[in-house]
Parts: sequence; structure tokens; C-alpha cells
Amino acid sequence: MLTARIAVLASGGGTNLQALLDAQGGVLQSGAISLVVADKPGIGAIGRAQAAGVGCAVIPRREPGFEETVLQALAEHRIDMAVLAGFLGILTADFIRRFGKPVINIHPSLIPAFCGKGFYGLKVHQAALDYGVKVTGATVHYVNEVPDGGEILLQRAVDILPGDTPEALQRRVMEQAEWILLPQAAELVAAQIVREKENTL
Ligand code: GRF
Repeated sequence: MLTARIAVLASGGGTNLQALLDAQGGVLQSGAISLVVADKPGIGAIGRAQAAGVGCAVIPRREPGFEETVLQALAEHRIDMAVLAGFLGILTADFIRRFGKPVINIHPSLIPAFCGKGFYGLKVHQAALDYGVKVTGATVHYVNEVPDGGEILLQRAVDILPGDTPEALQRRVMEQAEWILLPQAAELVAAQIVREKENTL
């Protein structure tokens, strides 16, 4: 059966990567996680990839030629789409153009709130708490040259509770939104890729 070959780019613990790995054969029917790119050594995502038997390339984001090296790895693994899962880098428009295939990202807020340059990780949840919003959530969107600026694919709302700390809120947003949305969004994109592959047979 045709499937889309998926690369996951990660910068941290890899819980969103884990949600994708666990969804294979379930919510994620049309795609297979074929490569993990860790943008620094020693992050949790590496161990999660290894435990799942998925090839992992450690490509330090701060090293010169990062994007070129990533593009080469994506080509070598015949990748059809990329998922940014807890990835903290900002990919250039040149990278997006040269890769030329779908790239999606999970952001831990309801875009357009609390997004863009400087809004990542706990900072997003701190900003939501500081503003006093009653509902936040997560968004999966296509990646273009604008940080968190691409077309929105899916969103899911999460209530903010009295006494929430940024850490408690981050955990709830991951559990109730990110880890649900990302496999669903990956499946939407992968299924479209498979349809396009079938049409060219
Ligand atoms: C999550 O809040 C995610 O939304 C953000 O980074 C945090 C950790 O992600 N981008 P992960 O556990 O590395 O997937």
C-alpha cells in the first residue's frame, strides 16, 4: 500500500514525535515516520526515535550549512513531507522552496494569538496567562517563510483553569490538543500525498 514518507524535525523531549509514532497504523494510516532530524545532540526525541527503530540524523541547528544538510537528509530518505514537532528553528523561505513538499508545524496556542517571533515553549503559555485569556489551545499549520504564518490546518481549544501555572497549562495543551491534533493533521496531508501518488501511477 502506498504511504507517504514522513520526516519529523525536533528540538526537545519529543512528546509530539511520540504521539506521531504511536499513531502509526491508527490515526496515521497514510504515512510512515521514516526519518527523525534532531537539531541538537542529547535531546529526548533521539531516544524516542531509536526506541521506535526510526533512523535519526543529529544535525546541530547552529552549525553552518544546517539547512543544506537537512535538505540532503530529506532527499536521501525520499521524504514526501516534513513535520516540525517541538522544533525551535525558523526555516528560511529558501529551505521551504527548495524542499518543495508540504511542511507542517504544531504551535501551542490558537493562532493568531500568542505566536510569531519569540513565542515558543513555555513563553507561549506565560503570555496567555499574563493576558488573562480563558481559552487557549494548539494549532497545526503549513509552514511558510513567516514564523507561524502558514495556512491553518487544524485547531483545538483547551480551557485555562484557575491557578494554572505555565507548566501545568503546557502539559494540558500537549495532552488535550497537541498530541491529538498532530497525528490528525499529518494524516490529512499524508492522505493527499498518497492520492497524488496514486494518480500518477
Ligand atoms: C511543546 O509545548 C510544543 O508545543 C513546543 O515544544 C514543547 C515540547 O514539545 N513546540 P516536544 O515534547 O519536544 O514535542
